[in-house]
Amino acid sequence: MERPSWAPEDIDLERPSVARVYDFYLGGSHNFAVDRELGRRVIETFPLLPKTLQENRAFLRRAVRFCVEAGIRQFLDIGSGIPTVGNVHEVAQQVDPTIKVVYVDIDPVAVAHSRAILKGNEYATAIRADFRQPEVILSHPELQRLIDLRQPVALLLVALLHFFPDTEEVQRTIARFRDALASGSYLVISHASADTQPTPLKVAELYARSGTPMAMRTKAEIARFFEGFELVEPGLVLGLDWRLEPEEAVDDNPERHSGYCGVGKKP
Ligand SMILES: C[S@@+](CC[C@H](N)C(=O)[O-])C[C@H]1O[C@@H](n2cnc3c(N)ncnc32)[C@H](O)[C@@H]1O
Repeated sequence: MERPSWAPEDIDLERPSVARVYDFYLGGSHNFAVDRELGRRVIETFPLLPKTLQENRAFLRRAVRFCVEAGIRQFLDIGSGIPTVGNVHEVAQQVDPTIKVVYVDIDPVAVAHSRAILKGNEYATAIRADFRQPEVILSHPELQRLIDLRQPVALLLVALLHFFPDTEEVQRTIARFRDALASGSYLVISHASADTQPTPLKVAELYARSGTPMAMRTKAEIARFFEGFELVEPGLVLGLDWRLEPEEAVDDNPERHSGYCGVGKKP
C-alpha cells in the first residue's frame, strides 16, 4: 500500500491502530483500509457507536470548559488521539489564548498530525509517549517547558483507560500522576462499559482479534480510578447526563450507550 505523506515512516500499514479507527468513526481522513475494515465490523455489531463517540467528544469539550471556568490554565491530555473537531486547545484557548495544553499519544500518526496543526501555537505541544510511563511524561522537556506542576493541572484520560485490561496497573499509573499534581488539579475520565453497551463482548472481541484488548469495566470499577479525587457533581454518569448545556441538541433516542464520564478534583 502506498504511504500517504502524513503517515510517519515507522507505522505498520497492515495492522489497525486504535487512533486511526477512532478517526474513522468520527468521519476523519487519517485512516487506512485496515482501520476502516475493523471500524465497519464494530459498527455492524454496534450501530450507535459513532453517535456515542460524538457524545464522548461533547463530554470532553464540556469538561474542558468546566475546568477552565474553575480556573485551570494547564491541560495534560493523554491518549489525545488524531485531532478532530473541537480539540482541547481550541476549546480552552478560545477562553484564554495563553492556556497551556500538552497532548500525549502513543500513536505516531496522532502525534505527527497534532504537531502539524499546532505549528505556531506557542502554548500547546504534542509528545509521543506511553500513558503507562508517567515519569517519562512528567519529566519530558516539552511538558516541563509548558506546565508548572506546582500549579493545578487538568489531567484528561478520555476514552483511553478501556484499552488497558490490567486494572491494577491503571490504578497505580493514575496514582503516580495524582501524586505529582498540585492540590486543586482535576482528573477527567470517560470509559466504555459493559453496563451501557448492548454488545460489549462482541466489540471487545473484534478489538482483541485485531491485537488490541479492551476492558469494558463496570461503573464501580471505573469509580475506583478517582481514588484521591473528589467527584464533582453529578458524579460518574453517562456522557449525556454530565452537565449538558442548554443549547446542546439531544435527539429523542432513548438508547444511551456512551460510557461513564466523570470529573474529580484533588483536594
Ligand atoms: C479512542 S482514542 C481517544 C481520543 C480522545 N481522547 C477522545 O476521547 O476523543 C484513544 C487514544 O489513546 C491512544 N493510546 C492507546 N494506548 C496508549 C498508550 N499506552 N499511551 C498513550 N496513548 C495511548 C490511542 O493511540 C488513541 O489515540
